[in-house]
Amino acid sequence: MVDLVAFGIAASVVGSLVVLHFIKGTGWQSSPDISQDILERRAATVPETSFPEPMNRSIGGGGGAVAIGAGDGADGESGELEEAEPEEQSPADMPEDEVEYFEIEFAKEGTTIEMASNETILDQGEEEGMDLPYACRQGQCVSCSAKITDGAAEDNVVHFKQETLAEGEMDQGYTLTCVAYPIADFTIETGEAP
Ligand code: FES
Repeated sequence: MVDLVAFGIAASVVGSLVVLHFIKGTGWQSSPDISQDILERRAATVPETSFPEPMNRSIGGGGGAVAIGAGDGADGESGELEEAEPEEQSPADMPEDEVEYFEIEFAKEGTTIEMASNETILDQGEEEGMDLPYACRQGQCVSCSAKITDGAAEDNVVHFKQETLAEGEMDQGYTLTCVAYPIADFTIETGEAP
């Protein structure tokens, strides 16, 4: 038979220990929150960029606006984002309802052709069966050079990505037909280079 006295003593000892345990506590303390510290150290390893970043590279989100020079400002930079140069629009991409047509007289060939403002002189001349000179077709040589006899080239054509002619040469009427889009009626002499 169970000794009720011994059982009672054992139960009271265990109960006392449990009560003491909770009164004194365990002495355990939670470690400090280091999550912010880790985030800042990770952010310091990410190189700065000149474009807005998505949320994943910023502390606290929305970090793109502090991409450049957002530190101490000691060098006089304001920390503003650099504006990207707007990309040059090709006349070839103009909407169909904005296309205009002009009379282009080819002096040496003795012919006049109506040309659209969204296609190069070289392309349209070839479509009309003309044998016009060219090489790169990218405005990087002078093989397709011609001279507009009605004034400055820029008053009569739009050059798209012309990299060869100097400003003074275009002022004299020289144009590169492979990258020139007409914007006026004019007379042109093919095979003329500055
Ligand atoms: S073909 Fe080379 S610049 Fe026109």
